[in-house]
Amino acid sequence: MSGGSKQSVRMAMDVLELNFLTVQLADQSINDIKKRDCEEVCENLRIITLEQLSRHDRHDDCWIAVYDRVYDCTAFIGKHPGGQDVILEYAGRDATLAFVDSGHSVEANRILRDYLIGQLPPHERLWLPNRIKVNRN
Ligand code: HEM
Repeated sequence: MSGGSKQSVRMAMDVLELNFLTVQLADQSINDIKKRDCEEVCENLRIITLEQLSRHDRHDDCWIAVYDRVYDCTAFIGKHPGGQDVILEYAGRDATLAFVDSGHSVEANRILRDYLIGQLPPHERLWLPNRIKVNRN
């Protein structure tokens, strides 16, 4: 291998390592947010049933559930960078997999917190606590 090629390979490896570190850092902050959320959620939040959630399924009254927490995202729909329709599709129901699969950033997870209004009752929870947790972020 020529000197130039070796240098290119070295640079590519440096970039890979940097990407790996960045992903690790993002994982860390998301996990911090989730841990803190979980502790707060269990204590103080209003209980909202799936039936109550299902009644808020409109553009002007839009709640979704993510990881068993309920968010009133009515005020955010018009500002959503991914468009209104993707959120409306999940209005009144669980949006966890859609939210996680869209690869939302740490910032998106922070914004979501601003709209937190409640949590599902323990017997209606899919994810928290002691249940399977998808962690693709
Ligand atoms: C209140 C709930 C939501 C919040 C706060 C939110 C926030 C955001 C933010 C800040 C972005 C910009 C990129 C980023 O920072 O990750 C984004 C992009 C996106 N969101 Fe959401 N989102 C929400 C719900 C959803 C749901 C339920 C879906 C369902 C599929 C979705 C799908 C997407 C997609 C596809 C993009 C990418 C848009 C693009 O890059 O063109 N979002 N979201």
